[in-house]
Amino acid sequence: MTRTALSTKSVQFAEFGGVEVLEFVDVRMPEPGPGEVLVEVLAAGINHIEAYIRQGQFADRIETSNHQTQGSDFAGIVIAVGNGVTQFKRNAEVLGHARMSSHAYHIVVKATSLVAKPKQLPWEVAGSLFLAGLAAHDLVDQVRVGQGDTVVVSAAAGGVGSIEIQLAKLRGATVIGTCGERNFDYLRQLGIKPVVYGDGMIERIEKLAPDGVDAYIDNFGQNGAALAEELGVDAKRFSSSEHRRDLELETICPDEATEKHNTDVLTKLAQLAADRQVSVLISGYYPFGFVREAFDDLEKRHARGKIVLGMKPAHSLSVMKARDVSDARD
Ligand SMILES: NC(=O)c1ccc[n+]([C@@H]2O[C@H](COP(=O)([O-])OP(=O)(O)OC[C@H]3O[C@@H](n4cnc5c(N)ncnc54)[C@H](OP(=O)(O)O)[C@@H]3O)[C@@H](O)[C@H]2O)c1
Repeated sequence: MTRTALSTKSVQFAEFGGVEVLEFVDVRMPEPGPGEVLVEVLAAGINHIEAYIRQGQFADRIETSNHQTQGSDFAGIVIAVGNGVTQFKRNAEVLGHARMSSHAYHIVVKATSLVAKPKQLPWEVAGSLFLAGLAAHDLVDQVRVGQGDTVVVSAAAGGVGSIEIQLAKLRGATVIGTCGERNFDYLRQLGIKPVVYGDGMIERIEKLAPDGVDAYIDNFGQNGAALAEELGVDAKRFSSSEHRRDLELETICPDEATEKHNTDVLTKLAQLAADRQVSVLISGYYPFGFVREAFDDLEKRHARGKIVLGMKPAHSLSVMKARDVSDARD
């Protein structure tokens, strides 16, 4: 039997809507063309932007079809390479970025979208590093976090925030992270000063930062700009939630220069994670068949670290989340 006769599965939606529009669809096994690679996906992260696209929030900005695939993050094993691909061979362990297609058992991507997976990097971390890591990396860069700065990051325990706070700290900043009280221990373990969001937050931040705040990265949205202004942060060193959304939209549908940037940043992040300079907590690891439940969990907006789909989980009980286990002990 030739490979084209084989089939595989991908997550698709035919119309905009809630998680109920997500379906597992049998598709023909894709074949790599010149410069491309066929990857068997082992883990793939999920992101809010994917939910927003599926809900139709960006219908005017992102073209979708009636068999729309999704997913940017993945890690897996190369199972075939197209003509001209010399940098990766069959059986190579990789992570990478895909154009709205990684929530699938098999994907074809350009070889230039792949990074060799450091051996010590766990699959689920490798598979969820891309979009959250890229957003975190670029936002920390854009507000020019440097040695001696005091930086506030909102939703600091979430998928993007938890990487931003660590990257900011690596640059020598003092980092204040907003979160609920249940995440205080998690942030403290990372060397971050936690502060509860909500009424009175300005006073709480000022107490933690008597010399002032230099930069503010707002992931969550709502009144971030007003808070940053009240804290005296220069507008050029404030990053809004809308700015992050635009960055993510550009990242998932990249032009050539952005695509190269994506791979370069992912290479750097993979090494930082492998060296444990950045630790990515996976607090929700869902078997692939539970993709709707995984998005339901994410959309509650109280994830700690990343939520990941596992294409080869040990058993369906892995749907029990690490944070549920620890919260149950409180
Ligand atoms: N991707 C986008 O386009 C985009 C753009 C802008 C903003 N956002 C939003 O940014 C947030 C963080 O992004 P993410 O990808 O890191 O998502 P995530 O992993 O779902 O982040 C969840 C985190 O948000 C925190 N949170 C919940 N309510 C909050 C509030 N009122 N103020 C501050 N933090 C709060 C939670 O902390 P506790 O559990 O401790 O409450 C949790 O740690 C998400 O809610 C997302 O909707 C996304």
